[in-house]
Amino acid sequence: MLVDAYKRPVKDLRISVTDRCNFRCSYCMPLDEYEWIDKKEILTFEEITRLAKLAIEFGVEKIRLTGGEPLVRQDLPLLVEKLSALKGLKDLCLTTNGALLSERIQALKQSGLRRVNISIDTLDAEKFKRMTKRGDLNKVLEGIFAAKRAGLAPIKLNAVVDRGVNDDDIIPLVEFSREHGFAMRFIEYMDVGNSNNWTSAKLVPKKEIIENIHARYPLREIGRDQGSAPSVDYEFVDGRGDIGVIASVTEPFCGSCTRLRLTADGKIVTCLFSQLGHDVKGLMRGGATDDEVRTFLSSIWRKRTDRYSDERLTALNSATYDPKSHRKIEMISLGG
Ligand code: GTP
Ligand code: 5AD
Ligand code: SF4
Ligand code: SF4
Repeated sequence: MLVDAYKRPVKDLRISVTDRCNFRCSYCMPLDEYEWIDKKEILTFEEITRLAKLAIEFGVEKIRLTGGEPLVRQDLPLLVEKLSALKGLKDLCLTTNGALLSERIQALKQSGLRRVNISIDTLDAEKFKRMTKRGDLNKVLEGIFAAKRAGLAPIKLNAVVDRGVNDDDIIPLVEFSREHGFAMRFIEYMDVGNSNNWTSAKLVPKKEIIENIHARYPLREIGRDQGSAPSVDYEFVDGRGDIGVIASVTEPFCGSCTRLRLTADGKIVTCLFSQLGHDVKGLMRGGATDDEVRTFLSSIWRKRTDRYSDERLTALNSATYDPKSHRKIEMISLGG
């Protein structure tokens, strides 16, 4: 089994299919102007599928398609079809902002997509517009319900909680998800990328999120899926569904991190907070054999020592953390 320097196996591959996005979320990529990756530098579906197949040989069981916004990539269902045909893959999912989902869901489902995670930070249309700059809440709601009608399950909804902005939306989002059978997940605001001006004052810690929900709708902890998922899940004591909290800042989960990332322009990245990726596209376009690509991937994973969120917590606790001192790859190039 392929394991990294801390004995963590590789189990998940997060593939960014484009860095482009039709939203400009305040916590991710608020900039209007941005230098997008040139189209010819973007991996083709054949290149992505080749890498996915090799990663599965090393133990990857789960693939997630992300962006930017993955649904702005043309013909995405063709990629879903190729990936869902790969032997050994147990889970293929998509993380999307939902804006284009209602138009694309049928084709995606027919290509083999079984589940989606959709971002929704508030149910207030005006606030939604403010948080995403370009988003239309109604389109996203249409997308969420179209996914439900198409039979995708589970449908997980992601909300990044930004103190003073949408912390008062936690209970309305909980009620919405309980009513319609969605799994709501609240995400601690992270210092991803270099553009969101993160400060710890914006963070609402998991403990506070859980206490807030528990006071209204009592919860019982279930734990992490497979022991390694980012989300700690809770079920409602009254049996009406479950929620999760992703507490990368206050309760980091680097010790069980089995996630490998692939950027749209073909870089292998071993942590969400990495400063650099490893250029696998150059290798493939230079004519490397599968064996050469295998050696490249396995040597990167074997050397992996990332535990950024663990280190950040230590620094935050000793008040020595400066997010700007560490230049990271932008979130839109990594897809979370
Ligand atoms: P499931 O497979 O449904 O459990 O999805 P997921 O939670 O792994 O993925 P999703 O794309 O929905 O991401 C939810 C949040 O978790 C996003 O804010 C991601 O940035 C964050 N996240 C996912 N993986 C990691 C990770 O390895 N480290 C950190 N720090 N955050 C992560
Ligand atoms: N902190 C936490 N989560 C974030 N996401 C984007 N930016 C941040 C951030 N700063 C989430 C999105 C989406 C997922 C891919 O990453 O809300 O659900
Ligand atoms: Fe928002 Fe996702 Fe686009 Fe980032 S990639 S700006 S989180 S919709
Ligand atoms: Fe994995 Fe890096 Fe996230 Fe830690 S911070 S869980 S090592 S991706």
